[in-house]
Amino acid sequence: MGRHERLVDLADVDSDGLVVADLGCGTGRTVRRLLAGEHVPATVHAVDQAVDLDDDLLADPRVVSRVADLDEPLPFADAAVDRIVSMNVAESLADPAQFLRECARVLRPGGLAVIGHTDFDTALFTSDDDALTRLLVDRFVAVVPDWQVRADGFMGRKLLWLATDSPFELLGVHSWADAHRRFDEGSLAWKIAMGMVAAAADDPDLSGRAAAWIGSVRRLADEGRFLFAVTDVVVVLRRP
Ligand SMILES: C[S@@+](CC[C@H](N)C(=O)[O-])C[C@H]1O[C@@H](n2cnc3c(N)ncnc32)[C@H](O)[C@@H]1O
Repeated sequence: MGRHERLVDLADVDSDGLVVADLGCGTGRTVRRLLAGEHVPATVHAVDQAVDLDDDLLADPRVVSRVADLDEPLPFADAAVDRIVSMNVAESLADPAQFLRECARVLRPGGLAVIGHTDFDTALFTSDDDALTRLLVDRFVAVVPDWQVRADGFMGRKLLWLATDSPFELLGVHSWADAHRRFDEGSLAWKIAMGMVAAAADDPDLSGRAAAWIGSVRRLADEGRFLFAVTDVVVVLRRP
């Protein structure tokens, strides 16, 4: 079961006709899974600061694409939503605790919020230089990339604090770290490795070593001896 399928499983869409919101939906990978579940929601509100939803989802009458800043009050009335999912968004928000309070406001009593985040500090790469790998991961989680206002490589583990300090009842904490063996362009491991290289760019010595590291990791992948994993953490919350 993949990440987005697991999120939908945890959201427990247990009857037809629910109103679901995916907050920070991106291209709609979780939205797609929501529509493929045993019970189909009446509406999936796909909320993001920009419309990046896949075309087929935009055309789906059950999907409502909404542009909104999640640092502002959510664009829903009180108790209007049955389920919320939000994956890898909290690190970008100015005040994730306020975001959770807003989630509680718009959920109906008994409604569930499934809030997940990758804990990037847990990135695991096989390589022929473990110390350099550690250095590059440390740099990666310490640097906010140019295209992001905020980032937090430890957000996965911090979700529990956010949950316990929120108005929600904490139903469960889940985590997983799937094994990935691909290192081709577009693979998850490749994307994170590119982030690590970019984070090292302002250090000429480390930058050179990072380029060589990429070459050695690619060779391990070609030999079938490459492994990558990173931990996702998910809290499942119920509005009292
Ligand atoms: C890493 S992507 C995750 C997308 C999707 N949830 C997924 O798991 O594939 C983070 C998403 O959050 C959105 N986002 C970040 N900050 C936001 C904000 N303040 N308001 C609305 N959307 C925001 C970004 O535009 C992006 O689509």
